[in-house]
Amino acid sequence: MRVARKLHIVTWGCQMNVYDSNRMADVLAPLGYASVPSPDDADMIILNTCHIRELAAEKLFSELGRLRSLKDARERRGERLVLAVAGCVAQAEGAEILARAPYVDLVFGPQTYHRLPEMIARAARDGGPVIDTDFPAEPKFDYLPRTAARPSGGLTAFLTIQEGCDKFCSFCVVPYTRGAEASRPAAAVIAEARRLVAEGAREITLLGQNVNAWHGDGPDGSRWGLSRLIRELAGIGGLLRLRYTTSHPRDMDDGLIAAHAEVPQLMPFLHLPVQSGANRVLAAMNRRHTVDDYIDIVARLRAARPDIALSSDFIVGYPGETEIDFEATLRLIREVRFAAAFSFKYSPRPGTPAASATGQIAEPEKDRRLQALQALLREQQAAFNASCVGRVLPVLFTGHGRHPGQIVGRSPYLQPVHVSAEAGAFEALIGEERSVTIAASHTNSLSAIINEERLRA
Ligand code: SAH
Ligand code: SF4
Ligand code: F3S
Repeated sequence: MRVARKLHIVTWGCQMNVYDSNRMADVLAPLGYASVPSPDDADMIILNTCHIRELAAEKLFSELGRLRSLKDARERRGERLVLAVAGCVAQAEGAEILARAPYVDLVFGPQTYHRLPEMIARAARDGGPVIDTDFPAEPKFDYLPRTAARPSGGLTAFLTIQEGCDKFCSFCVVPYTRGAEASRPAAAVIAEARRLVAEGAREITLLGQNVNAWHGDGPDGSRWGLSRLIRELAGIGGLLRLRYTTSHPRDMDDGLIAAHAEVPQLMPFLHLPVQSGANRVLAAMNRRHTVDDYIDIVARLRAARPDIALSSDFIVGYPGETEIDFEATLRLIREVRFAAAFSFKYSPRPGTPAASATGQIAEPEKDRRLQALQALLREQQAAFNASCVGRVLPVLFTGHGRHPGQIVGRSPYLQPVHVSAEAGAFEALIGEERSVTIAASHTNSLSAIINEERLRA
């Protein structure tokens, strides 16, 4: 019989890390590891880390300090706690982690977690720490359990279809931590999507660092791009919604824009990072598109799908960014109008070209620009939410709301939407997509009335 062991995974960073954490749990399930919500009585703790900005990476060392006392306490009781560091910090700073925190047992990057069972055995046998930050020739996806040992059970699921990046934006660590761009074969993606739907998923978000660069040989032998894959996945019975993230403007092709017009399952909400509204900053960032290219893509998307809403990522205080450049970013935001956005102060990352560029901007100036940018973006988000009032929108219901008698779901734009439901109606609505009329907008959510109920009243 398998020994029952307890596994606790902490996940930082992007959605790809969330997906990876779930796959690590799948790989460990056959060894008897079951996930537990608290680190306190875990036999193994994995910290799945993010290296994108300095603050993100620093979280690891403060968390390791706390876990060290837990590990010491367990060892005094004669028990073993395996401490593992995974993800992008492990990939970029594996040796430094072991130097600063020699009590860590395993350090491994995003491309080797299929070798976890072997690493655990090696650490137990040899006692010392095990480090594995290769970019192996065999893709990890080939080694992951074909049918998950643990059913996902979620109504909304992530599915990684593409990994790594060849774009080398001059500020970014991803090409170094995740390696070269690679697409999973169409057949593997379709099989995984079918399994997720069979296990209850009604919405799937396709993931990739540059998800719209996905390409592969389709089952028909022809070469597929993301739009063809989306059309295929939309044919899976029971799959109500599809999304994809994160896209790069350069890979937004006509076929994908057309899919937004033609595939009803594809949600009219797109995360399309632009980073800056100044051409000279975009060029320095090596983004390889101009402001006008971006505006043109947005215009074509809106022509294809008039109700599409956009979100984006922005960096302020990139080396050499002038006040005029920064104002150009504010102008772009006013012109495009975003429904949501993420914005960051430029954070110099070791080993990236921008970190050693001249013209680094002082921290207080970055703060000032970030605050001005975020004030504008908040205003636009509130305006977008307010513009939803009175609209009829489909909502996928996923669970109980905060108040009794309330259920919550997501709009096509990922806004949480609350409705009041009579007792008994709850079970029938979860996992269903229903048409609602938006009644009010609040800071972070909307409230609505289910249309059939209103009709019956
Ligand atoms: N592949 C995606 C984004 C990956 S990282 C793309 O091409 O857009 C997510 C976001 O983090 C980026 O869009 C960028 O806005 C931000 N980011 C990346 N590196 C950063 C850095 N060094 N400093 C500040 N923000 C950064
Ligand atoms: Fe980083 Fe640029 Fe690649 Fe996005 S496209 S992951 S920002 S290098
Ligand atoms: Fe962070 Fe790695 Fe994702 S650096 S954003 S966890 S790809």
